[in-house]
Amino acid sequence: MVKNIAILASGNGTNAENIIQHFYENEHICVKLVLTNSQKAFALERARKLGVKCAYFSKEFWAEGSTLLTMLKAEKIDFIVLAGFLARIPDNILKAYPNKMVNIHPSLLPKYGGKGMYGDKVHQAVLDSGDTESGITIHYTNEHYDEGQIIVQYRCEVKPDDTFVTLANRVHALEYEYYPKVIERLLLE
Ligand code: GAR
Repeated sequence: MVKNIAILASGNGTNAENIIQHFYENEHICVKLVLTNSQKAFALERARKLGVKCAYFSKEFWAEGSTLLTMLKAEKIDFIVLAGFLARIPDNILKAYPNKMVNIHPSLLPKYGGKGMYGDKVHQAVLDSGDTESGITIHYTNEHYDEGQIIVQYRCEVKPDDTFVTLANRVHALEYEYYPKVIERLLLE
């Protein structure tokens, strides 16, 4: 039985692309859908290029949720992966995918998480704090931003001469290495 994934992404989509590439021609796992809440999301472009069906839904649809859920069911989606997705997940989708929806956050949660904390803002906050380590957190999704049960964290050092760009690159490298592997483990266990 093939397990189908939907990726939710709001921005550049480098993680989405990396996950699509990882599962390309996989016998057991298929990235079937990329959904976004932003018409400008470059993730859409990446999905199209790689031949993955993608769709934009406006704010109203994300608030209401039933059209989205119908699409997820029609595409037989088993598992949802958030990859730089910045909107709240509708309650009906949370309910329909208990422990079957994961998020990645570019810090060691509970530090530097929550509404409005994403991407470079997170890295700048880490630098401002003087922390000597950062990393990534992969966690189940719930109704609060960045608060679901933590599955795993990976760490990297923060160097004294880091800028948010160099730190972001180091953290992104962890995301590319581990996110697809963790998804695969969760889906096949
Ligand atoms: C990633 O670093 C991801 O961890 C972060 O957004 C970036 C998306 O990059 N997510 C959050 O901050 C969630 N709160 P990408 O669009 O290039 O994959």
